[in-house]
Order: sequence, then structure tokens, then C-alpha cells
Amino acid sequence: MSEKIFLASTNAGKRAEFAALLAAHGFELGPAIAYPEVAENAADYLGNAALKAEALHEELRRRGIAAMLFADDSGLGIDALAGAPGIRSARYGGRELSWPQRRALILAELAEVPDASRTATFHCALVGIDDAGKRYRGLGETRGRIARGERGEGGFGYDPLFLPEGESRTYAEMSAAEKARTSHRARALQALVATMHR
Ligand code: IMP
Repeated sequence: MSEKIFLASTNAGKRAEFAALLAAHGFELGPAIAYPEVAENAADYLGNAALKAEALHEELRRRGIAAMLFADDSGLGIDALAGAPGIRSARYGGRELSWPQRRALILAELAEVPDASRTATFHCALVGIDDAGKRYRGLGETRGRIARGERGEGGFGYDPLFLPEGESRTYAEMSAAEKARTSHRARALQALVATMHR
């Protein structure tokens, strides 16, 4: 039986991606466990991932569950917006915005920006804590560009806007397996898993 890994996220898009990425590494995604919400107020992705990991670690201990867990914090940095939305990616423009509205806001902010300057980077920081309390980390980045309009029906969040470097399709126009070939999340997981086998 493959090892179950608990994930500190209720984001359906992230969970679906992780389920497939973990399976490729021989792990199985454990059920979602509710834990007290943490203020994601660290200065960077890694700090926020660590806050979520510690909160879930505490909850698993409280419930007497001895298992490995991962927490991810991710976001999109757009060069022409001085790195925004960055660590505020999930709530850019206000928590009340729908995802189509949030993507429309970004497109409006970039309306005058020419193709060559629409560069952006997806970031992912991953923190793991194993059943013995040992901490692991992995970072992943993917460079790309922001499309001129929404394209594609797949994925989640900013996927319909993001063209990974060397690609003419957005992440939302790709299958999950195609996205996993270049995604920041796949790279962060790869980096973390490499430290587990040392
Ligand atoms: P958090 O890591 O849950 O704080 O939120 C990260 C936010 O960044 C998500 O809500 C997404 O909107 C965005 N994001 C992170 N990774 C991706 C991705 O792979 N595709 C699209 N949007 C992403």
C-alpha cells in the first residue's frame, strides 16, 4: 500500500493536482482534514507554507494521526505589476471577487503592456513534516507569459492566463499530465522528494 500524505489545503484545484503528482511519486493523497485557519501573514511563500504545515501537524497530533503531511503556498508574480499578485494571489483585488473577475482585473491592468513585457513566474513552496516531526522543503518556479485573454476551460485560478515558456497554449488548455511536465508544483514536489531520499 502506498504511503498516505495529508495536504494542508482545501483548494479543489490544488488537491486534484496533488493527487496525480503524489501518485507519480508512489504516494496517495489522504483525506482533507479541517484544521484551525492560520493567518497567512509570513513574508514569503515558504513562510506561509510552513505556517500551514505546522497548523496541520498540530491538528494531526491532536487527533492521534501519525502520518506525513505537505503544505503548499503558491502564487503568480507578474513582472509588469512589480511581482503582484504574488503572495496575495488567492485574494488579489479582494476576497469577494470571483475567479473570472480576478482574471479580468489582471487583463485590464496589463491592457497596455506589449507581449514581450508580459512575463510572469508561477512560484510554489512546499513544506513537509513526517510522522517523526522531521521537516522537509522544496521550491519550484515556472517562467511564462500572460496571454492577451482567457484561454481554455481546464485547471484553476490563473491557469487560463498563463502560457509557460516555449508553449502556445495556456495551462487551462492542457491536460493535467501536460501541465505537470512544467508546473511549479510538480517541480517543488520533485525537489522535496529528492531531500527525503538523501
Ligand atoms: P494559496 O497558496 O492557497 O495561498 O493560494 C495560491 C493562489 O495562487 C491560488 O488560489 C491560485 O489562485 C494561484 N495559483 C497557485 N498555483 C496555481 C496554478 O497552478 N494555477 C493557477 N493558479 C494558481
